[in-house]
Amino acid sequence: MSTPEINARIESLLAQMTLTEKIGQLYQISDDDESIEGGLHQAIRDGRIGSIINAKRREPIYELQRLAVEESRLGIPILFGRDVIHGFRTIAPIPLGQAATWNAALVERCAEVAAKEAASVGIHWTFAPSLDIARDARWGRIAETCGEDPYLTSVLGAATIRGFQGQDPAQAGRILACAKHFAGYGAAEGGRDYNTTNIPEVLLRNVYLPPFQAAVQAGVATFMSGFNDLNGVPASGNELLFRQVLRKEWGFEGFVVSDWESITEMIEHGFCADQKSAAWAAARAGIDMEMVSRTFLNHLPGLLEEGLISMEIVDQAVARVLRWKLMIGLFERPYPDMEAPLPLKAPSHLEAAYEAAVESLVLLKNENQALPLNPGTGKVAIIGPLADAPREQMGTWIFDGQPEDSVTPVTALREWLGEERCLYAPGLTYSRDESTDWFGAALSAAQAADTVLFFAGEESILSGEAHSRALLHLPGAQMELLRQLASTGKPVVLVVLAGRPLAIGEAADLCVAVVYAWHPGTMGGPAIIDLLFGKCEPSGRLPVSFPKDAGQIPIYYNHHNTGRPASKGGFARMAEIKVGTKQVGLPNTSYYLDLGVDPLYPFGYGLSYSNIAYEVPTVSSTEFTEAEPLTISVQIRNTGLRPCKETVQLYIRDLFASMTRPVKELKQFQQVILQAGATQEVHFRLKAADLSFYGPDGDLRLEPGAFELMVGPNSRDVQGVRVTLLEKK
Ligand code: GLC
Repeated sequence: MSTPEINARIESLLAQMTLTEKIGQLYQISDDDESIEGGLHQAIRDGRIGSIINAKRREPIYELQRLAVEESRLGIPILFGRDVIHGFRTIAPIPLGQAATWNAALVERCAEVAAKEAASVGIHWTFAPSLDIARDARWGRIAETCGEDPYLTSVLGAATIRGFQGQDPAQAGRILACAKHFAGYGAAEGGRDYNTTNIPEVLLRNVYLPPFQAAVQAGVATFMSGFNDLNGVPASGNELLFRQVLRKEWGFEGFVVSDWESITEMIEHGFCADQKSAAWAAARAGIDMEMVSRTFLNHLPGLLEEGLISMEIVDQAVARVLRWKLMIGLFERPYPDMEAPLPLKAPSHLEAAYEAAVESLVLLKNENQALPLNPGTGKVAIIGPLADAPREQMGTWIFDGQPEDSVTPVTALREWLGEERCLYAPGLTYSRDESTDWFGAALSAAQAADTVLFFAGEESILSGEAHSRALLHLPGAQMELLRQLASTGKPVVLVVLAGRPLAIGEAADLCVAVVYAWHPGTMGGPAIIDLLFGKCEPSGRLPVSFPKDAGQIPIYYNHHNTGRPASKGGFARMAEIKVGTKQVGLPNTSYYLDLGVDPLYPFGYGLSYSNIAYEVPTVSSTEFTEAEPLTISVQIRNTGLRPCKETVQLYIRDLFASMTRPVKELKQFQQVILQAGATQEVHFRLKAADLSFYGPDGDLRLEPGAFELMVGPNSRDVQGVRVTLLEKK
């Protein structure tokens, strides 16, 4: 349907719609909510429901849709939405794990698979991707993000949107995406979910907003407001975010849905006195559709009556909702295909989940090439609460994933080695288990084996929404079990399944190798075991800095330098401070006496089974102008014996500016596959505009002067070259 036809259809519908029917389009009800006046079915017949959340099976979706299409006055179809975050039935790694792949095409493919499966049962809309920047591992929802970096989140968020929506979301197997949670939700104070956020506008614009702008540029259909109050104004009532930034500055034309009851929560926030004022604040701010709470349903008529909001605002919101319903062909094709076989867990879907799981794995330690393991000889003990935990390995936000679909590491290891060479003893029954009753069997298995694989981490319930942790250690008695396993003298390979960075420093010291597997999804077992035995190469890179302990938080690579950086003046290690040291006897720089200033593992870090050497980067010119981009080149060589997929990262630093700037900012990356012994030159094209930043009054600035361009395998081990952006003539 062409745009003019769609516009004409919208005008015609608006002209026919009663106020009740208009406001109905702005209301999303939960599929099990019968509390609405007259019950759900009657509300649908009356045209009081525009969208339904959480219907997930073809038959009830068909029946609910039939009521809307055939028994309501205007037959406007319902938009069915559901959280299809990292898979519908085939579960891919959690988004933080997918981010560790740094592979936009693969992330897109995972979203495409999720869309195909969800669309097949009649779901039209998912509430993903989460584009929140997460700098705090205590925050449970870091699991759903792409980590701490605006550029990586922008690239992978856009890929996810493309995967869900395709070029045309009207095509079969596609669903509408939703950029969430606008904005700043991940900056929850103390990493405690739903907590207040205070983000200076300059930080908001330079760090938290870019991924959302990238989502608009990628054509995302919808936005969702966050639960958080941002600088004292709840996101769901925040005109700066929605009227000013999203609509006026970015020209977004889709529609905005509130988060679950986030409009009524403005009363709890102390921002609105009652439901009516909450509806008013949300409508004024630019929320188009209300999720589950009913302030719009109950109070928009009165607000219109009193002239507190105009019918134009209501019509605009209704038009935005109708537009997407028309654009995806919902009026022509309102029903799911009831005859088509459901493509759930199709082989190609499982293959995508497997590849994403493999590429999400980050090798953090590999002492004396302990890995890959030799499958030909010896026995392997596989121990730990996450070695055979089909539900846990799927991670958070997997409403439709089924544990019985998961292939666990134990299953995969048995397929590799056969039952007799695979000695499985969980040692703990779940990740928080404090009991040592099963240690004996685990230690016996370790004693009888040549190598020990210890699968540690978090159950999936320990991460995700509302599940924040103040401490980041391995829960339960896992460390005690690991200490005893290590004391057997057998080499221990640690594999961590978790929804966040954990403080695994001591654990890593006890092991010969460490692989971080996040929550790897349905195919996590084969992916991990295949990697441990070298059937595939580790290529994952950290999308988030790992703190040594929660006390270092917030810790992120793109920090500012301060006037007293530890990098300049050094720092003392508490254990080495002599008793009686004088007050001025230690460096006065920015660090912690006990944990220093560096993360356990830096952003972008990850090892391979080979080794990549980097030459010093070169530039096409040490001076450049806005008119012509700069080329940065670096030669890399695989000096090892195995092929490797290397993620070459380009960072910049503005050395002197009208505001203090981060010591590093990721601006580009390229993934390069290098055979053993091969050399390749990698080139980056940098435009002057890539060096711009927002000033305190929201103005975009590009300032001439000296910049450091740095290239390397991660945010720490970089080599730089100085260039100058010349004054505009
Ligand atoms: C939840 C989440 C949001 C989700 C929505 C619908 O509370 O904050 O991300 O999409 O409600 O389930």
